[in-house]
This record gives sequence, structure tokens and C-alpha cells, in this order.
Amino acid sequence: MLFLFKKKSKPKNSDLPVHIGIILDGNGRWAKRRGLPRTAGHSAGAENFRTIANYCRDIGIKYLTVYAFSTENWKRSEEEIYAIWELLRKYLKESIQKMVRDRVKISIMGDIGAIPEDIQELIDETDRLSETFEGIQLNICLNYGGRDEILKAAKEVAADCLAGKIQPEEITDDYFEAKLYSAGVPDPDLIIRPSGELRISNFLLWQSAYSEFYFTKTLWPDFSTKELDSAIADYQKRDRRFGGVKD
Ligand code: IPE
Ligand code: IPE
Ligand code: MG
Repeated sequence: MLFLFKKKSKPKNSDLPVHIGIILDGNGRWAKRRGLPRTAGHSAGAENFRTIANYCRDIGIKYLTVYAFSTENWKRSEEEIYAIWELLRKYLKESIQKMVRDRVKISIMGDIGAIPEDIQELIDETDRLSETFEGIQLNICLNYGGRDEILKAAKEVAADCLAGKIQPEEITDDYFEAKLYSAGVPDPDLIIRPSGELRISNFLLWQSAYSEFYFTKTLWPDFSTKELDSAIADYQKRDRRFGGVKD
């Protein structure tokens, strides 16, 4: 009667991570293995992003932060970067129409001043639409770097000191955090990196201080809802101590 002990496939609600971060990596290798251009990998990755974001909303995840373009990704060819902006343009246009219906609030994290202006306008529009509704919050990291974010916050805090708004000895974690792109968003409980790389690549450096990690060799376009369930199940077995002791 082995079937009686079969595990439920959907993750249980208790101890569900509130915030999941995902480094969307492995698109290029996915395409290469199929003899396709790297840009085809980005299209497949964008498609999978929709699937996973909807699934996260359906199972009750409150925040999903995805790393889509880093401050270092400008090192890539113009053609590849152009293809990424094109996918983003398409995604934001579709999302603007569907955000309220789909209960998805979109927020962009990163230095958006350097990305194409029409996309900046789309971002402003999503911000405006997102202001007042509840559902899953989807943070898309674009031209984002953890160091860049910390440096930006440090500069703002320094400016506040010079303006006499605060004394250096009064600066707290909370004061500093309020200057980060992620202000108001709780730290990620679980960070997933597909593609087999075992590194953080400048993602959420401040916020990941006590995040749990899940690494997998699966390339991002192949990362399924089933594997997300496994990552969550794995997370639910972890003993998070935050520097304390549990008996
Ligand atoms: C991630 O996939 C997408 C971006 C960084 C924009 P990659 O393009 O890095 O894919 P690999 O790592 O080359 O396979
Ligand atoms: C990390 O992937 C950045 C994004 C997924 C946006 P990369 O492919 O840029 O990272 P490295 O170069 O392997 O560290
Ligand atoms: Mg990569």
C-alpha cells in the first residue's frame, strides 16, 4: 500500500517562503545546446518567467524578485542586449494590460536611467498602476548590481549627513535599508540559482545575509513548477537560526 505514503506534490502552506529570489541564468547555454542563437534562449527564458511568476502567485508567494539584467551584462554584444530590451518591452506592454486582472504588482529594481527611454516610460506606467493593489509583488532587477545598490544608498546617506538631516552615529540598518531599491520589501527567504553556477553574481548582496540557497544544474528555460516545488520543499526542511540557537 505504498501509494498511501505518497507525498503531496504542492508545497504545504506552512513555512512557505514569503519572498523568493531567482537568478534567471542559463538561457544562452539552453539555446546553444539546441543549435539556436542566444537570443532564442532569452525568449524561452522570458516565457518560463511568466509560467513561474503565475505559479508563485497561485501558491501564495508574496514577493518574487528576479535577476534579469545585471550591471555587468553590458559586456555582452549589442545584438544580445537589444534582444533582451525587446523582450522586456513586450512583457511590460502585456503586463500593463493584465496587471490588475492577474493580481500582479510589478516593480523594477536597478539603475533604469541607462536603459532605453520608451522602456523607462513603460516602467513609470507600471509603477503608477501598481500603486494601490495587492497580490504578488514581482520585482524585476534590471541594470541591477548589489554593489551599485549599496553604493547608491551610501551616497544618499552621506548627502543626508551633509545636509544635517542625520548624524553618522544615528544611522541604523533601517535607515540604510530605506535607501535601497528594495525599500519596504522583506529580505528574500529563498534564493534559487539555476544553470549550475555556484555564485551570487552581485544579486541582492545586502538582502541575502540570511537567505537560504537552492542551486540546480537545470537551465532557466527548463526550470519547471515541479522543480520549484522541490526547491520549496527543500527550503522547508532547513533550520533557520539567524545566528541564534534552537533546541
Ligand atoms: C541569463 O542567461 C540571462 C542574462 C544574464 C541576461 P545567460 O545569458 O547568462 O545564459 P548563460 O549563462 O550564457 O547560459
Ligand atoms: C547573472 O548571470 C545575472 C543575471 C542572470 C541577470 P550571469 O550569467 O551574468 O552571471 P555570471 O557571469 O555567470 O556570473
Ligand atoms: Mg549566465
